[in-house]
Amino acid sequence: MTVKINENYLLLQNSYLFAEIARRVDEYQKENPEKEIIRMGIGDVTKPLVPSVVKAFTSAVQEMSDSATFKGYGPEQGYSFLAEKIIENDFKPLGVDISLDEVFISDGAKCDTANIQEIFDLDNTVAVTDPVYTVYVDTNVMAGRTGAMNDKDMYEGLVYLPCTAENGFIPELPKENVDLIYLCLPNNPTGTTLTKEELKSFVDYAKENKSIILFDAAYEKFINETDVPHSIYEIEGAKEVAIEFRSFSKTAGFTGTRCAYTIVPKELKGYDSKGNSQSLNELWNRRQTTKFNGVSYPVQVAAAATYSKEGKKEIQEYIDYYMENAKIIRTKLREIGLSVYGGVNSPYIWVKLPEGIDSWSFFDILLKEANVVGTPGAGFGPSGEGYLRLTAFNTLDNTKKAMERISKLNFN
Ligand code: MLT
Repeated sequence: MTVKINENYLLLQNSYLFAEIARRVDEYQKENPEKEIIRMGIGDVTKPLVPSVVKAFTSAVQEMSDSATFKGYGPEQGYSFLAEKIIENDFKPLGVDISLDEVFISDGAKCDTANIQEIFDLDNTVAVTDPVYTVYVDTNVMAGRTGAMNDKDMYEGLVYLPCTAENGFIPELPKENVDLIYLCLPNNPTGTTLTKEELKSFVDYAKENKSIILFDAAYEKFINETDVPHSIYEIEGAKEVAIEFRSFSKTAGFTGTRCAYTIVPKELKGYDSKGNSQSLNELWNRRQTTKFNGVSYPVQVAAAATYSKEGKKEIQEYIDYYMENAKIIRTKLREIGLSVYGGVNSPYIWVKLPEGIDSWSFFDILLKEANVVGTPGAGFGPSGEGYLRLTAFNTLDNTKKAMERISKLNFN
């Protein structure tokens, strides 16, 4: 007897982008233990949980130690005390009505954006922006929704919407009829955004073509400019065509604590093979209740505390701190003649590399000569070649130190 594997996995690149970067950095550090490496690769935060979150978290753990207040399994969709705060704080002020049973609390936007494709047929055509958060692509490859990677580093069957300096990082609408469109705004990796008008054209496209937009808004709290939508549901009619993903990871330092949520509107319909419309909200609920047992009670209490008056203030201070880092990175790199994008409504800075250097070579130069880790643009897709992503999530000291080291490099 032989056990057959899911051969779609063989179509994937050898390792997940951030695992490959970690491997290269570890290898270099082992060979050069005396070097002090500054990590600006993966978008992981450096600031701890804020005091009001820690207080709520701790008291919820205490509740778990007393049989009178102990909690076992919670609702798979999350506790309503958190869902209510989400609706009240993240959507009501935008004039967006979300009901409790449209909110699905989870342990991460990565998992949700990865898992959502399960409720859609394998024959659907998928469009991604290029460069792209690789999870959207890899999970569709794993599911068998694509062919092999071609010599242009694109998976057959996937529709790529290039976003480069040439088009101002505004993806063109798909020329063909696509079923699922992944949009991440503010964008990971480019740090750029779309205006309401630009996003509206995607919503209009989705309505016309009966497509669904999978809208990843994990970086929403970093938006500073006024014409940038915080939620896709700010666009009229978007509840009929979009699922939105949000996260506490980058906003409130929950990368290790794990909490996020996904909005699946009840208006949202998919179609079965007989042409009957089906509720995507019901399908996702069925998926989650079967495969997921909810986020732990203390974590949800901690997430709810991010919406307290004190919590909001403390979190905003951290976001401002990271955005100050972003400003330093943008300013310093411009001073040395590099073109940089993003970093205004996002913690990511997308750096255009000098002509003739490919992004993995630049990654190596940066690691070995400046001891700074970035993420090579090519790792996010073919249109990322020629760019490098830096994050603003390090400490202020390290950010300044990294910029000094980079300024001393000679790229020629
Ligand atoms: C990134 O660096 O792109 C993110 O940290 C990845 C993630 O959020 O999973």
